[in-house]
Amino acid sequence: MRPQAPCGACRAVPSRPAWSTRCNPSNASPKPSPIGQLVARPNDMDLASREFDELAKLIHSLTGLVISVDKSYLIKHRLEPVAKRFGCDSFEAFLSVIRKSGGTRIHDAIIEAVTTKETSFFRDSWLFEALGQHVLPELAKRLDGTGTRRNRIRIWSAGCATGQEAYSLAMLVRELVDNQPQTRRLNEFSILASDISSDAIETARSGLYSATEIQRGISEGRLRRNLERAGTRWQFAGPLRELIQCRKLDLLRPPHDLGAFDLVLCRNVLIYFDQPSRQRVCSTVEKHLLPGSFFVLGSAESLYGCEHSFETIKHGRAVIYRKPAASR
Ligand SMILES: C[S@@+](CC[C@H](N)C(=O)[O-])C[C@H]1O[C@@H](n2cnc3c(N)ncnc32)[C@H](O)[C@@H]1O
Repeated sequence: MRPQAPCGACRAVPSRPAWSTRCNPSNASPKPSPIGQLVARPNDMDLASREFDELAKLIHSLTGLVISVDKSYLIKHRLEPVAKRFGCDSFEAFLSVIRKSGGTRIHDAIIEAVTTKETSFFRDSWLFEALGQHVLPELAKRLDGTGTRRNRIRIWSAGCATGQEAYSLAMLVRELVDNQPQTRRLNEFSILASDISSDAIETARSGLYSATEIQRGISEGRLRRNLERAGTRWQFAGPLRELIQCRKLDLLRPPHDLGAFDLVLCRNVLIYFDQPSRQRVCSTVEKHLLPGSFFVLGSAESLYGCEHSFETIKHGRAVIYRKPAASR
Protein backbone atom coordinates (compact mmCIF):
# COMPACT_ATOMS: atom_id res chain seq x y z
CA MET A 1 0.00 0.00 0.00
CA ARG A 2 1.41 3.43 -0.89
CA PRO A 3 1.51 6.25 1.66
CA GLN A 4 -1.07 8.99 1.22
CA ALA A 5 0.30 11.50 -1.27
CA PRO A 6 -0.31 15.20 -0.74
CA CYS A 7 -1.51 17.66 -3.35
CA GLY A 8 1.31 18.64 -5.67
CA ALA A 9 0.37 22.31 -5.44
CA CYS A 10 -0.29 23.01 -1.75
CA ARG A 11 0.95 19.84 -0.02
CA ALA A 12 -2.48 19.38 1.57
CA VAL A 13 -4.25 16.06 1.29
CA PRO A 14 -7.44 16.72 -0.64
CA SER A 15 -10.64 15.52 1.02
CA ARG A 16 -13.08 16.31 -1.80
CA PRO A 17 -13.87 13.96 -4.64
CA ALA A 18 -11.26 14.18 -7.36
CA TRP A 19 -13.50 15.81 -9.95
CA SER A 20 -15.24 18.36 -7.67
CA THR A 21 -12.51 20.96 -7.65
CA ARG A 22 -8.82 21.37 -8.02
CA CYS A 23 -6.78 22.15 -4.98
CA ASN A 24 -4.65 25.10 -6.03
CA PRO A 25 -4.66 27.99 -3.55
CA SER A 26 -3.10 31.22 -4.71
CA ASN A 27 -0.26 31.08 -2.16
CA ALA A 28 0.96 27.75 -3.43
CA SER A 29 3.20 27.59 -6.43
CA PRO A 30 1.79 24.98 -8.77
CA LYS A 31 4.40 22.74 -10.29
CA PRO A 32 4.17 19.94 -12.76
CA SER A 33 3.16 16.76 -11.03
CA PRO A 34 2.99 13.19 -12.24
CA ILE A 35 -0.43 12.30 -13.60
CA GLY A 36 -2.80 11.63 -10.75
CA GLN A 37 -0.66 12.96 -7.93
CA LEU A 38 -2.96 15.97 -7.39
CA VAL A 39 -5.78 13.71 -6.30
CA ALA A 40 -3.91 11.06 -4.40
CA ARG A 41 -5.68 9.32 -1.52
CA PRO A 42 -4.84 6.33 0.65
CA ASN A 43 -4.54 3.19 -1.51
CA ASP A 44 -4.17 5.35 -4.59
CA MET A 45 -2.68 3.68 -7.60
CA ASP A 46 -0.28 5.77 -9.65
CA LEU A 47 -1.18 6.35 -13.26
CA ALA A 48 1.88 6.70 -15.45
CA SER A 49 1.47 8.75 -18.58
CA ARG A 50 1.88 5.75 -20.92
CA GLU A 51 -0.82 3.92 -18.92
CA PHE A 52 -3.06 6.97 -19.21
CA ASP A 53 -2.47 7.02 -22.99
CA GLU A 54 -3.37 3.35 -23.37
CA LEU A 55 -6.51 3.62 -21.22
CA ALA A 56 -7.64 6.84 -22.93
CA LYS A 57 -7.24 5.12 -26.32
CA LEU A 58 -9.20 2.10 -25.13
CA ILE A 59 -12.01 4.30 -23.75
CA HIS A 60 -12.14 6.19 -27.04
CA SER A 61 -12.41 2.98 -29.04
CA LEU A 62 -15.09 1.56 -26.71
CA THR A 63 -17.29 4.65 -26.44
CA GLY A 64 -16.07 7.56 -28.56
CA LEU A 65 -15.38 9.54 -25.37
CA VAL A 66 -12.29 11.71 -25.45
CA ILE A 67 -10.40 12.11 -22.19
CA SER A 68 -7.64 14.67 -22.42
CA VAL A 69 -4.58 14.55 -20.23
CA ASP A 70 -5.88 17.35 -17.97
CA LYS A 71 -8.82 15.04 -17.12
CA SER A 72 -6.56 12.11 -16.26
CA TYR A 73 -7.91 12.27 -12.70
CA LEU A 74 -11.20 11.00 -14.17
CA ILE A 75 -9.57 7.84 -15.44
CA LYS A 76 -7.71 7.42 -12.22
CA HIS A 77 -10.67 8.00 -9.95
CA ARG A 78 -13.18 6.00 -11.96
CA LEU A 79 -11.04 3.09 -13.11
CA GLU A 80 -9.16 2.42 -9.90
CA PRO A 81 -12.15 0.65 -8.30
CA VAL A 82 -12.68 -1.33 -11.52
CA ALA A 83 -9.03 -2.39 -11.57
CA LYS A 84 -9.32 -3.53 -7.95
CA ARG A 85 -12.50 -5.47 -8.72
CA PHE A 86 -10.52 -7.36 -11.34
CA GLY A 87 -7.87 -8.15 -8.73
CA CYS A 88 -5.29 -5.57 -9.84
CA ASP A 89 -3.41 -3.26 -7.49
CA SER A 90 -1.80 -1.17 -10.21
CA PHE A 91 -2.83 0.23 -13.56
CA GLU A 92 0.04 -1.70 -15.09
CA ALA A 93 -1.50 -4.96 -13.86
CA PHE A 94 -4.95 -3.81 -14.97
CA LEU A 95 -3.69 -3.09 -18.48
CA SER A 96 -2.01 -6.43 -18.66
CA VAL A 97 -5.32 -8.17 -17.71
CA ILE A 98 -7.12 -6.09 -20.35
CA ARG A 99 -4.52 -6.98 -22.99
CA LYS A 100 -4.57 -10.67 -22.13
CA SER A 101 -8.29 -11.28 -21.57
CA GLY A 102 -10.04 -8.21 -22.99
CA GLY A 103 -13.61 -9.30 -23.48
CA THR A 104 -17.04 -7.92 -22.85
CA ARG A 105 -17.04 -8.16 -19.05
CA ILE A 106 -14.02 -5.94 -18.49
CA HIS A 107 -14.99 -3.62 -21.34
CA ASP A 108 -18.52 -3.22 -19.96
CA ALA A 109 -17.12 -2.43 -16.51
CA ILE A 110 -14.91 0.27 -18.04
CA ILE A 111 -17.84 1.72 -20.02
CA GLU A 112 -19.99 1.85 -16.88
CA ALA A 113 -17.23 3.58 -14.95
CA VAL A 114 -16.27 6.25 -17.49
CA THR A 115 -19.66 7.35 -18.84
CA THR A 116 -21.21 10.44 -17.28
CA LYS A 117 -24.92 9.76 -16.86
CA GLU A 118 -26.02 13.13 -15.53
CA THR A 119 -29.62 13.86 -16.55
CA SER A 120 -32.94 15.08 -15.20
CA PHE A 121 -36.61 15.29 -16.19
CA PHE A 122 -37.48 18.14 -18.56
CA ARG A 123 -33.81 19.19 -18.60
CA ASP A 124 -33.78 22.62 -20.28
CA SER A 125 -37.50 23.24 -19.74
CA TRP A 126 -37.72 25.68 -22.69
CA LEU A 127 -36.87 22.87 -25.08
CA PHE A 128 -39.66 20.64 -23.78
CA GLU A 129 -42.08 23.58 -24.03
CA ALA A 130 -41.14 23.92 -27.70
CA LEU A 131 -41.49 20.18 -28.26
CA GLY A 132 -44.89 20.07 -26.52
CA GLN A 133 -46.28 23.19 -28.16
CA HIS A 134 -44.85 23.01 -31.68
CA VAL A 135 -43.01 19.83 -32.63
CA LEU A 136 -45.26 17.06 -31.27
CA PRO A 137 -48.50 18.68 -32.53
CA GLU A 138 -46.90 19.03 -35.98
CA LEU A 139 -45.81 15.39 -35.93
CA ALA A 140 -49.26 14.28 -34.82
CA LYS A 141 -50.69 15.77 -38.01
CA ARG A 142 -48.71 13.15 -39.96
CA LEU A 143 -50.89 10.40 -38.57
CA ASP A 144 -53.75 9.61 -40.87
CA GLY A 145 -55.41 7.25 -38.43
CA THR A 146 -56.24 4.64 -41.08
CA GLY A 147 -53.15 2.55 -40.59
CA THR A 148 -52.55 2.61 -44.34
CA ARG A 149 -49.98 5.40 -44.47
CA ARG A 150 -48.15 6.48 -41.34
CA ASN A 151 -49.76 5.04 -38.28
CA ARG A 152 -47.00 5.68 -35.79
CA ILE A 153 -44.73 8.57 -34.82
CA ARG A 154 -41.28 7.31 -33.83
CA ILE A 155 -39.08 9.24 -31.41
CA TRP A 156 -35.51 8.36 -30.39
CA SER A 157 -33.83 9.49 -27.20
CA ALA A 158 -30.23 8.64 -28.15
CA GLY A 159 -27.83 8.59 -25.18
CA CYS A 160 -30.79 8.68 -22.76
CA ALA A 161 -28.75 7.79 -19.65
CA THR A 162 -31.25 6.57 -17.00
CA GLY A 163 -34.27 7.49 -19.12
CA GLN A 164 -35.49 10.81 -17.70
CA GLU A 165 -35.47 12.39 -21.18
CA ALA A 166 -37.53 9.55 -22.67
CA TYR A 167 -40.10 9.71 -19.85
CA SER A 168 -40.31 13.50 -20.20
CA LEU A 169 -41.18 12.95 -23.87
CA ALA A 170 -43.69 10.25 -22.92
CA MET A 171 -45.42 12.64 -20.51
CA LEU A 172 -45.65 15.27 -23.28
CA VAL A 173 -47.09 12.69 -25.67
CA ARG A 174 -49.66 11.73 -23.08
CA GLU A 175 -50.65 15.39 -22.60
CA LEU A 176 -51.09 15.76 -26.35
CA VAL A 177 -53.22 12.63 -26.53
CA ASP A 178 -55.29 13.72 -23.51
CA ASN A 179 -56.00 17.03 -25.27
CA GLN A 180 -57.26 15.31 -28.44
CA PRO A 181 -59.00 12.21 -27.06
CA GLN A 182 -61.27 11.83 -30.10
CA THR A 183 -58.47 11.57 -32.62
CA ARG A 184 -55.25 10.49 -30.90
CA ARG A 185 -54.14 7.36 -29.08
CA LEU A 186 -50.99 6.71 -27.05
CA ASN A 187 -50.06 3.69 -29.15
CA GLU A 188 -49.72 5.90 -32.22
CA PHE A 189 -46.40 7.01 -30.69
CA SER A 190 -43.31 5.07 -29.74
CA ILE A 191 -40.09 6.15 -28.08
CA LEU A 192 -36.77 4.36 -28.39
CA ALA A 193 -34.54 5.08 -25.37
CA SER A 194 -30.95 3.98 -25.98
CA ASP A 195 -27.63 4.23 -24.22
CA ILE A 196 -24.28 2.48 -24.24
CA SER A 197 -24.52 1.84 -20.50
CA SER A 198 -26.32 -1.38 -19.49
CA ASP A 199 -26.92 -0.11 -15.95
CA ALA A 200 -28.50 3.10 -17.23
CA ILE A 201 -30.72 1.19 -19.63
CA GLU A 202 -31.85 -1.14 -16.84
CA THR A 203 -32.97 1.87 -14.77
CA ALA A 204 -34.75 3.35 -17.79
CA ARG A 205 -36.51 0.03 -18.41
CA SER A 206 -37.71 -0.21 -14.81
CA GLY A 207 -39.19 3.30 -14.87
CA LEU A 208 -38.32 3.48 -11.15
CA TYR A 209 -36.90 6.69 -9.68
CA SER A 210 -36.05 7.99 -6.22
CA ALA A 211 -37.90 10.96 -4.73
CA THR A 212 -34.78 13.07 -5.29
CA GLU A 213 -34.70 12.19 -8.98
CA ILE A 214 -38.41 12.92 -9.30
CA GLN A 215 -37.97 16.30 -7.66
CA ARG A 216 -35.53 17.22 -10.40
CA GLY A 217 -38.02 18.39 -13.00
CA ILE A 218 -41.40 16.74 -12.37
CA SER A 219 -44.21 19.00 -11.18
CA GLU A 220 -46.77 17.91 -8.59
CA GLY A 221 -49.46 17.62 -11.27
CA ARG A 222 -47.36 15.46 -13.58
CA LEU A 223 -46.29 13.31 -10.64
CA ARG A 224 -49.92 12.61 -9.72
CA ARG A 225 -50.95 11.91 -13.31
CA ASN A 226 -48.08 9.69 -14.40
CA LEU A 227 -46.42 7.93 -11.47
CA GLU A 228 -47.30 5.48 -8.74
CA ARG A 229 -45.59 4.89 -5.43
CA ALA A 230 -43.30 1.85 -5.34
CA GLY A 231 -42.00 1.55 -1.76
CA THR A 232 -39.70 4.49 -1.18
CA ARG A 233 -39.51 5.17 -4.90
CA TRP A 234 -41.87 6.16 -7.72
CA GLN A 235 -42.64 4.24 -10.86
CA PHE A 236 -44.09 5.40 -14.17
CA ALA A 237 -47.50 3.89 -14.84
CA GLY A 238 -47.73 0.94 -17.24
CA PRO A 239 -49.07 2.80 -20.31
CA LEU A 240 -46.15 5.25 -20.26
CA ARG A 241 -43.61 2.47 -19.78
CA GLU A 242 -45.15 0.61 -22.71
CA LEU A 243 -44.58 3.66 -24.90
CA ILE A 244 -40.81 3.32 -24.39
CA GLN A 245 -38.52 0.58 -25.74
CA CYS A 246 -35.16 0.55 -24.01
CA ARG A 247 -32.13 -0.71 -25.84
CA LYS A 248 -28.40 -0.83 -25.17
CA LEU A 249 -26.82 0.71 -28.23
CA ASP A 250 -23.50 2.30 -29.17
CA LEU A 251 -24.16 5.41 -31.25
CA LEU A 252 -20.89 4.87 -33.09
CA ARG A 253 -21.88 1.33 -34.07
CA PRO A 254 -25.60 1.62 -34.70
CA PRO A 255 -27.52 -1.57 -35.47
CA HIS A 256 -29.02 -2.09 -38.93
CA ASP A 257 -32.60 -2.39 -37.72
CA LEU A 258 -33.04 1.11 -36.28
CA GLY A 259 -35.63 2.21 -38.81
CA ALA A 260 -36.77 5.77 -39.48
CA PHE A 261 -37.64 8.45 -36.94
CA ASP A 262 -39.72 11.62 -36.80
CA LEU A 263 -37.80 13.15 -33.91
CA VAL A 264 -34.34 12.38 -32.51
CA LEU A 265 -32.91 13.85 -29.32
CA CYS A 266 -29.18 13.32 -28.81
CA ARG A 267 -28.40 15.73 -26.01
CA ASN A 268 -25.25 16.17 -23.96
CA VAL A 269 -23.57 13.21 -25.60
CA LEU A 270 -21.60 14.71 -28.50
CA ILE A 271 -20.01 17.19 -26.12
CA TYR A 272 -17.75 14.35 -24.93
CA PHE A 273 -16.80 13.25 -28.46
CA ASP A 274 -14.13 14.37 -30.91
CA GLN A 275 -15.03 15.83 -34.29
CA PRO A 276 -14.89 12.58 -36.34
CA SER A 277 -17.20 10.84 -33.84
CA ARG A 278 -19.57 13.85 -33.78
CA GLN A 279 -19.71 13.69 -37.56
CA ARG A 280 -20.47 9.96 -37.48
CA VAL A 281 -23.36 10.41 -35.06
CA CYS A 282 -24.70 13.39 -37.02
CA SER A 283 -24.65 11.36 -40.25
CA THR A 284 -26.32 8.37 -38.54
CA VAL A 285 -29.12 10.57 -37.21
CA GLU A 286 -29.56 12.28 -40.57
CA LYS A 287 -29.78 8.91 -42.31
CA HIS A 288 -32.42 7.64 -39.89
CA LEU A 289 -34.59 10.76 -39.90
CA LEU A 290 -37.55 10.99 -42.25
CA PRO A 291 -37.62 14.06 -44.52
CA GLY A 292 -39.04 17.07 -42.69
CA SER A 293 -38.23 15.50 -39.30
CA PHE A 294 -36.50 16.94 -36.27
CA PHE A 295 -33.17 16.63 -34.45
CA VAL A 296 -32.31 18.16 -31.09
CA LEU A 297 -28.91 18.57 -29.41
CA GLY A 298 -28.00 19.74 -25.91
CA SER A 299 -28.03 23.45 -25.18
CA ALA A 300 -24.21 23.63 -25.18
CA GLU A 301 -23.89 21.66 -28.41
CA SER A 302 -24.15 22.52 -32.09
CA LEU A 303 -23.51 20.96 -35.48
CA TYR A 304 -20.58 23.31 -36.02
CA GLY A 305 -17.90 21.54 -38.05
CA CYS A 306 -20.26 18.75 -39.18
CA GLU A 307 -21.35 18.22 -42.75
CA HIS A 308 -25.14 18.00 -42.82
CA SER A 309 -28.26 19.19 -44.57
CA PHE A 310 -30.27 20.31 -41.53
CA GLU A 311 -32.14 23.61 -41.39
CA THR A 312 -32.26 25.45 -38.06
CA ILE A 313 -35.57 26.39 -36.44
CA LYS A 314 -35.91 28.48 -33.29
CA HIS A 315 -38.77 28.46 -30.81
CA GLY A 316 -37.79 30.96 -28.13
CA ARG A 317 -34.52 29.67 -26.64
CA ALA A 318 -34.94 26.25 -28.19
CA VAL A 319 -32.82 25.44 -31.24
CA ILE A 320 -34.19 22.55 -33.30
CA TYR A 321 -32.71 21.09 -36.48
CA ARG A 322 -34.93 19.90 -39.29
CA LYS A 323 -34.07 17.60 -42.16
CA PRO A 324 -35.33 19.32 -45.33
CA ALA A 325 -38.64 17.92 -46.52
CA ALA A 326 -37.28 17.31 -50.02
CA SER A 327 -34.20 15.38 -48.93
CA ARG A 328 -33.78 11.62 -49.13
C1 LIG B 1 -24.69 13.28 -19.89
S1 LIG B 1 -25.67 11.90 -20.37
C2 LIG B 1 -26.98 12.69 -21.28
C3 LIG B 1 -28.34 12.16 -20.92
C4 LIG B 1 -29.51 12.87 -21.59
N1 LIG B 1 -29.41 12.80 -23.03
C5 LIG B 1 -29.58 14.31 -21.15
O1 LIG B 1 -29.21 15.21 -21.89
O2 LIG B 1 -30.02 14.55 -20.02
C6 LIG B 1 -24.65 11.20 -21.68
C7 LIG B 1 -25.02 9.76 -21.97
O3 LIG B 1 -24.39 9.38 -23.21
C8 LIG B 1 -24.05 8.02 -23.11
N2 LIG B 1 -23.04 7.67 -24.12
C9 LIG B 1 -21.73 7.97 -24.13
N3 LIG B 1 -21.12 7.44 -25.21
C10 LIG B 1 -22.08 6.79 -25.91
C11 LIG B 1 -22.10 6.02 -27.11
N4 LIG B 1 -20.98 5.83 -27.83
N5 LIG B 1 -23.26 5.48 -27.52
C12 LIG B 1 -24.39 5.66 -26.80
N6 LIG B 1 -24.45 6.37 -25.66
C13 LIG B 1 -23.31 6.92 -25.21
C14 LIG B 1 -23.56 7.86 -21.68
O4 LIG B 1 -23.61 6.53 -21.23
C15 LIG B 1 -24.51 8.79 -20.93
O5 LIG B 1 -25.58 8.08 -20.37
